[in-house]
This record gives sequence, structure tokens and C-alpha cells, in this order.
Amino acid sequence: MAYENILVETRGSVGLITLNRPKALNALCTPLIRELGQALDAFEADAEIGAIVLTGSEKAFAAGADIKEMSGKSYMDVYMEDFITNGWERITTCRKPVIAAVAGYALGGGCEVAMMCDFIIAADNARFGQPEITIGTMPGAGGTQRLTRFVGKSKAMEMCLTGRQMTAEEAERAGLVSRIVPLADLLDDALKTATRIASMSRPVVMMVKESVNRSYEVSLKEGLLFERRVFHSTFATEDQKEGMAAFVEKRQPNFRHR
Ligand code: CAA
Repeated sequence: MAYENILVETRGSVGLITLNRPKALNALCTPLIRELGQALDAFEADAEIGAIVLTGSEKAFAAGADIKEMSGKSYMDVYMEDFITNGWERITTCRKPVIAAVAGYALGGGCEVAMMCDFIIAADNARFGQPEITIGTMPGAGGTQRLTRFVGKSKAMEMCLTGRQMTAEEAERAGLVSRIVPLADLLDDALKTATRIASMSRPVVMMVKESVNRSYEVSLKEGLLFERRVFHSTFATEDQKEGMAAFVEKRQPNFRHR
């Protein structure tokens, strides 16, 4: 498929999506979000792909929703289109793991898209922020909700009320990103991490993702019950038999993803 706002490649068992609107610092216009959804659909349907990396440029992961596209919209326009929710949530419904590899600005919708991914690896030049308040609006794709769950109320409230940006170091300390790597190593590192995940049993990877995500939605008691039931179900896979046999026989497992 021909895309205008993103680049889509495969690297072995990893799907790589690069946001590619350099003139607008990867601002997330509606056609870009539509293409991102199409690329995710294709990788989800491709049995060869075990994990997905979403990245931007060295200067910007994404500088937010497209302000020029939004500026003329009325309340009725955004309400009737369900603007922002519409299309963006596709990232969160992906069953295969999606790693955000963030360099440069991840602002507004850019920070929100990174937080929709399963985890964030940040380059040392990454900057995270929710600057919507500085243009007379507020986060509309999870900034007040996901950021608060990641970094706690105090930091999230300050960031959303002032538009202050967090450095990569602060984001790592606060638990927003899993790791920081030098800018030059970002893509290699993210691809290596995704390749490692893709080498595991696909069904078990999806079960782990489902179980960690469940912890956001339910009580600890319900979450632990869900985890135990899913853990039990791994014993119905061939890959659990193979993984444990390989350990006992002191060899590498050969997962067949079933
Ligand atoms: N939407 C549309 N265009 C954008 C954009 C955005 N979010 N961010 C940057 N651009 C465009 C600029 O308009 C500029 O285009 P022109 O050359 O045609 O003027 C180009 O990208 C380069 O940007 P700058 O010249 O501003 O670059 P800079 O290096 O001086 O500054 C920046 C970088 C600090 C990121 C600055 O561009 C900026 O503040 N961008 C807006 C950030 C923002 O407010 N994001 C939130 C958007 S609202 C939102 O996301 C709602 C939501 O919750 C989903």
C-alpha cells in the first residue's frame, strides 16, 4: 500500500512504522492517523510479524495533533466526528506489542500516542509534554488520564496545567519511559528489543500484554485472578511444552507460535 505520511517496512519479524511528515514535525493529521491504522491492521494480519516499532524522526516523534487542521473546527464538527478518539484508539486495540521509539518532541497528541503504545524507549534528546493549555485547549487523547497513571497526579497536573516539557531523564525517573538510550542507538535498540519479543511464543506474548493491560482496569484481586487463569491457559499451548522441555534439555526453544 502507498502511504503519504508514514513509512512502513519489515525488519525480519518486526514491523517498523516511521511517522514521516518532517515539514510539520510529524503533526498527527487525520490522513496520518488513518494510514497508521491501516499499517497496524496489516501487521496484525501478518503471521510473520511478532512485534511493531513506532518511531518518528530525530527531531520529533510527533509535535501533537495538527493544529492547522484543528484551528477552524467548531464544537459541532469535533463532536460529530468524535475528533481525536476516532481512529487514534486503534493503537490501543493492537494485540501484538507496539514499542514507541521516541526521539525529540513527543508533545500533546505525540505524547499521547507514545503512551498508547506498550512501552516507550526514549532517546536522550526526547522531550515529553502536554502543551495543549498554551493554545487554549486541553489533552484530548489520554493526556490527563494515561499520563496521570504513569507519573502520578502531581507531575501530570503540573505538566497539563503549565505545558512544561519533561526531559528523557525526568521521564525515566517518573516511570513514563522504560529506558533511555543514546540517540544514535535508538532505532537499533528498539528493533533489537522488538526482535527479542517476536522470538517468544506469539500467543503467550499476547497473553502477557493482555494481562498487564488488565491491571489498569480492574481491582488487584480481579487482576490476580485474571492473571492466574491466563497463566493456566499457557499450559494448553505447544510453546509452553517446548519452552520447558528446552530448558530441561539445556537447548534453545523452537517456538512455533501455537
Ligand atoms: N500542528 C501543526 N503544525 C505543527 C505542529 C502541530 N502540532 N507542530 C509544529 N508544526 C509545524 C509548524 O507550524 C512549522 O510549520 P511551518 O514551517 O509551515 O511554519 C513546522 O512544523 C516546524 O515547527 P516550528 O517552526 O514551530 O519548529 P520549532 O523547532 O521552532 O518548535 C515545537 C518546535 C516547540 C515543537 C513547536 O513546533 C510547537 O510548539 N509545536 C506545537 C506543539 C503543541 O502545541 N502540540 C499540541 C497540539 S494539540 C493536541 O495535540 C491535542 C491533543 O490532545 C490530541
